[in-house]
Order: sequence, then structure tokens, then C-alpha cells
Amino acid sequence: MSETTGQILGVRPARESRTQRKARKNLERLVRAEARAAMPTPEPVLDDMPRATTGRWGSQSLGLWGPPAPSLPSHRITSPRLGVATPFLAESGLGVRGAVVGIDEESGGLFSLDPWELYRAGHTTGTSLLCIGNVGTGKSTTNKALAARLVALGRKVAVASDPKAEWVRVAQALGAAGIVEIGPGRPGRVNVLDAGPRPHDADDAAWAQIAFQRRRTTVAAVLSQLRGAAQLDPFEATALDLALEHVGRTSSVPVVAALIQALLAPADDARKIVGDAGASLALSLRRLTMGDLAGMFDAPSTAVLDPSMRMFVFDTSALLSSSADALAIASTITSAWLNYVIHDKSSRDFWMIVQEEGWSAMRDPKTVEQMDERVRMAGEWGIAPMLIMHELKDLDMIGPPDSPQRNQALGLMSKAQVKIIHRQSRETVPDLAVTLGLTEREQELVVRLRQGQALWKIGADKAFRVRTLITDVDRAVFDTSARRAG
Ligand SMILES: Nc1ncnc2c1ncn2[C@@H]1O[C@H](COP(=O)(O)OP(=O)(O)OP(=O)(O)O)[C@@H](O)[C@H]1O
Ligand SMILES: [Mg+2]
Repeated sequence: MSETTGQILGVRPARESRTQRKARKNLERLVRAEARAAMPTPEPVLDDMPRATTGRWGSQSLGLWGPPAPSLPSHRITSPRLGVATPFLAESGLGVRGAVVGIDEESGGLFSLDPWELYRAGHTTGTSLLCIGNVGTGKSTTNKALAARLVALGRKVAVASDPKAEWVRVAQALGAAGIVEIGPGRPGRVNVLDAGPRPHDADDAAWAQIAFQRRRTTVAAVLSQLRGAAQLDPFEATALDLALEHVGRTSSVPVVAALIQALLAPADDARKIVGDAGASLALSLRRLTMGDLAGMFDAPSTAVLDPSMRMFVFDTSALLSSSADALAIASTITSAWLNYVIHDKSSRDFWMIVQEEGWSAMRDPKTVEQMDERVRMAGEWGIAPMLIMHELKDLDMIGPPDSPQRNQALGLMSKAQVKIIHRQSRETVPDLAVTLGLTEREQELVVRLRQGQALWKIGADKAFRVRTLITDVDRAVFDTSARRAG
């Protein structure tokens, strides 16, 4: 879909045909016209204020002595006026390279952003992002625009779960994407024993160790969910280790049926140590090969990450009617797989990891832990985790106030360095203001935002009101209104 890529805002491809160049120029003209249209109309009283000069120093007589004022194009608002009328938005722009998201409605200029460039420029201390807003306010659209345009700049995007299957079209439009559909009767598989890609620098012995550890972590997490958080006793833990070691040695692509077999019928020397301790683990794991979880995690993965892939989507729409614990187990396995793939240190790829409908995923404590790990390890792994949720009340589904799980989720929100706040209901704003550090003016603003508009808070002290700009091509791919309209 080079046509779509050619229309990505603010991006000039290394090679482009005449038609593509023409399309790009036309798009840029359209964007500039939109930016001009978005300009606030001047307010005469405030505009009578002393203007900043554009010389090396300000004018002493007007009391503007100090560092030089920016040289503003004629259609832009003056900074004194901006500073008085809208102090919380009195910004000179981020000045970093990035994907164009939309229009900064105060300056009328284009607003662009890249989580890693923001960090390099010192605007933020990390790369995690949060997007929060009421139903239908434009969260997914904003994220799709940001993601698609970051991909055009060479970043990569993984959607950890896509309960409405709305990112599938985006991935298809961008091309070079991996889409795996998980659910009863669906073709996608994520092998619970998949150890992810082998690091380039690992020899056979090191890789056997890494694969063993990864499988052990995933299977232990799944067992804990299958057994209602019961911990493995020392005999069970040893039985699991021996069985995993056996399947890793005897099969190049081990699957859970082989693990169940090794747990039920351990070799004689293993049986001398652990007796029948593996049998109950085997019975718990049978749920992955029979019953409600069969046919999703019990065969070699169809999810394969090719280095040339630019986007990856786990389509989880078929899991919608599954039980909460089935959903949680699926999320544990797919998240573990994604983590192994993305934190390959030898790769130079930077991934934005989108947790769409995060409120649903956060009902499971393991998933919250995995999200938290991603936020903590973001710098190490070269990732930018994006959590999308509706409002602070989403946390009520996670646990009572002051429960550890809820506090962890709250921490995920407050740790985000880029906070994209779409319209909020008034009653939720006071608490949200505390969590996200909103000023009084920002609290007033977030209840008035229109569809497609958001307050972007960057790092500790920068804020912008941005209207996400989507082109006609984007609209055809991003739109979610058809089903809403009935
Ligand atoms: N920036 C925008 N420009 C134009 N239209 C927009 C914009 N943002 C959103 N819309 C319109 O609003 C619809 C809903 O947007 P979107 O699906 O992004 O909302 P949402 O906040 O993700 O909703 P939900 O809470 O249901 O997931 C879109 O299909 C589109 O028609
Ligand atoms: Mg959405």
C-alpha cells in the first residue's frame, strides 16, 4: 500500500514517484490550509499589548528586556498574548522530529511527536504513554494516526490485544504486518512453549538455557492462573523443570501435549526425585489442549515475527465471549511471546506497544504486572508502551481502593510521560487531576474537548491542545463509526 504510505503526513519517502510526490505536496497544502483555518481569531484588546521584538534583545522601553523573542510568522499568535490568555498552553512547540499527529490549536502549527525523540531532547524521562477519554472521543483514531505515521518514520508498532479487531485494517493498509487471530475455532496459534527468537549472540548451550527459562516463566504463570494463584510446591516445581528440560532436549518445537506427557510419565530417574508430583500439573495444563482453551496455544505458533515486519496485531475479537480467566490466560501467553520478541537486545527496532481497551486487560493482575514491567523496562527494551483507557473509574474493575493491584494500575497511569487526555466527564476530573497532575485550567479544558481533540501533557510541564488530523485515506481505514451508527 505505497499509496497510503505516500500520504503519511510530514514524511518524505526516500524514493517517490511523480504521482506520489504530487499526492504528498497536495496533502501538505491541505494540512497548511487546515492549520490556518484552526488559527484563533485575534482578540483586539490583548493584541494591543506590547509585542515581542524579533531582534537579538527585547525592547527595554516596553519592559521586554531579556532573551530574544521568537521570530513569529505573521499568522501566528504573539507570545505575550498567549502567555496571558492561555498560560497553560504558552508553549514554543516541542522542537523535536516526529510523526505529525495534528494541529496545535493554539499556535495553529503542526504538532508532531516521537516518544524516543522526546526523551532524547530531555522533554521526558521515559517513553511510556497513556491515552484516556470517554467512549467515542477519538482515542483509537489518535493512536492509529500516531502509530501509522511512526511506522512511516521507521518505528514499529505492536498491538498487544485488539478486542474490536479495528487495528487489523490499519496493519493491512500499512503492509508488511503480522496479524494473528486468537480464539476458539480461529486459525491463529501462539505456542505456550514458544521461546521467541534466539538472540544473535547465543550459542547452542546459552540458547537452550534461555529457552528453558522463558518456557518456565510462561508455564509457571499460566499454571498459577489455572490453579487459582496456588504456588508450585518444591516437588511440583522440580517436576516441571525436569519435564521442560526433557521436552526442550527431545523436540525442536515442543508443544504442550509433549509437556503433559513428560509430566504424567517422567523418566525413571526423574520419577525417583519427584514421584507423581507432575501429574496434577499435567491435569491443569490439559485445559490448553481440551475444553475452552483448546486450539489456541497447543500447536507451533503461527505468530512469527519477521524482522521486515513493521506492525504486529493480536486480533483478540474472537475471545470476547470467553470467560474472564480464559481471557487472562490468553493475555499472559500472548504478552509473554510479545515480550520475548520485542526485547531482543540485538535488534535496533523501536516498538510502540499498544494496549487497546486497557481497562479490559487490566482486570487481570498478571496483565497489569506485565504492563508494569514494560513501563519499567521501556528504556532497556527500546519500547514505548501505550495504555488506552476510558476514565479513572476503569480502575474500579481492578480492585478496591488501596489494593496493591489497583495501586499498580494507578502507577502505570501516573508514570506515563506522554498523557493524551480526550474528553472526560466532569465528575471524574478531580481525581484524575490528582493522578495526572492537571492544572485548574486543564481540568476545565478536558470536559469541553470535542471529538478528535485532546490535551497532550508532555513530561513535567508541557501541555498542548491538539486536534488529530486524519486524511480521507486515513478515515477509510481508521473509522469505527459505521457500527456505532447502526
Ligand atoms: N481526529 C478526528 N477527526 C475526525 N473524526 C474523528 C477524529 N477522531 C475521532 N473521529 C470520529 O469519531 C469516531 C470514533 O473515534 P474512535 O473510535 O477513535 O473513538 P474511541 O475514543 O476510540 O472510542 P471507544 O471508546 O469506543 O474505543 C471515528 O470513527 C471517527 O468517525
Ligand atoms: Mg477505541
